[in-house]
Amino acid sequence: MERLPGFRDFYPEPVPQGGLWSADTRRYIFEKWRAVARSYGFREYDGPPLEPLDLFTTKSGEEIIAQLYNFTDKGGRDVALRPEMTPTLARMVAAHERNYRKPIKWFALPQLFRYERQQKGRLREHFQLNADLIGETDTAADAELIALLIDCLRTFGLTDKDFVIRLSSRSAWRDFFMAHRGDPGREYEFYQVIDKLEREEPESNTEKLQALGFALAEIQAFIGEAKPTPELAGMLENLAARDLAGYAKVDYGVIRGLAYYTGVVFEAFDRTGEFRAIAGGGRYDNLVKLISGGKADLPALGFGMGDVVLRELLQARGLLPQMGMGLDAFCLIQDEALRPESLKLVQGLRSAGLAVDYPLTPAKPDKQFKRALELKPAYTLALERPPGEALRARVKNLRTRQEVMLQPEEIAGYVRANQPSEPQP
Ligand code: HAM
Repeated sequence: MERLPGFRDFYPEPVPQGGLWSADTRRYIFEKWRAVARSYGFREYDGPPLEPLDLFTTKSGEEIIAQLYNFTDKGGRDVALRPEMTPTLARMVAAHERNYRKPIKWFALPQLFRYERQQKGRLREHFQLNADLIGETDTAADAELIALLIDCLRTFGLTDKDFVIRLSSRSAWRDFFMAHRGDPGREYEFYQVIDKLEREEPESNTEKLQALGFALAEIQAFIGEAKPTPELAGMLENLAARDLAGYAKVDYGVIRGLAYYTGVVFEAFDRTGEFRAIAGGGRYDNLVKLISGGKADLPALGFGMGDVVLRELLQARGLLPQMGMGLDAFCLIQDEALRPESLKLVQGLRSAGLAVDYPLTPAKPDKQFKRALELKPAYTLALERPPGEALRARVKNLRTRQEVMLQPEEIAGYVRANQPSEPQP
């Protein structure tokens, strides 16, 4: 049985062959994302992977609707696997916003499902870091979120030479649209053409824009001028105060495909333009109101960063560390008479928070040692009881090959104090 196209199996390291995904790399990415989000005061939330279909059909826009995994469940409900997290977040916030101080700063690491045409950087499921800030209209919130986005990439060793945040504004585009007498009923249609501008042929762009009463040249001139709106100028100033201005630039070539964005929008790209967007987001000040049927009304903004493009980029830049197997020690049992004492030692070390393995069944010492080497622990341990003497342990550092003799109760402290540092790329 094959897995479905566009879905991934995640194997523990070392992954059996190229092209397979590593569960250890996924954990590495998640831990970094979590740590940075927490350092900005964001709290973790989650929601259900299956939602009522109409949570997405009315709010996200055509592109995502075309990609929905939806079906009727056994109770006759129309449901969909979540293609994005934002509508779920808006629903959750609207239901209980009174219980939380504003601004609400939350993050999640959902797995999302989109029936997309498979291509580089696009699968039918992916994980996304979502970070959203709810209940604040000031652009200080937008700048804070961009700073978080920048740090969620810098934490992997990426620099301003590797990526850039392209900042844009739906309000700037709306002003442009109105000033050029666009048909208010076709505003979103216009945004979708702008969203695809870089990916489509000029002839097709010209044709689509003409149908909406615009010339490609005037659109290109507006993008080329890149004149910051007051909100974008304020954000750039805020970022400059943090020495982060070099990571962002005003670029109206970005407008975002999703329907609910209202103000500042942005996407993170690698500088070479080799990969698809690493992350995208923006302000969606009307979504909470829309989803709650007017019961709650809160301004909001956020971004989603996918694991697929990020991993491609980190791999291409040599920034993925060699993943160890995370084992602190392997306890060899060379004398079966010492199995009960060895089991007691293993349990004690595990209770002390160390990761420890051992041979489940009797095996020859060379076989045990081979197994230990495969598992790449930091140390091997072996209990010994010389005739007439107390129980002691031979503790060997497999990297330095150094050996020490310790009392069993000294091992946990010794291993913890002499732990090899986290693997570096
Ligand atoms: P999005 O632009 O649709 O935004 O997705 C954000 C990121 O998720 C993309 O830049 C990309 O890295 C990744 N991504 C999206 N689709 C796929 C796919 N099929 N395969 C692999 N990676 C993918 C949103 O989803 C918004 N809800 C983000 C947001 C949060 N806006 C406000 N808050």
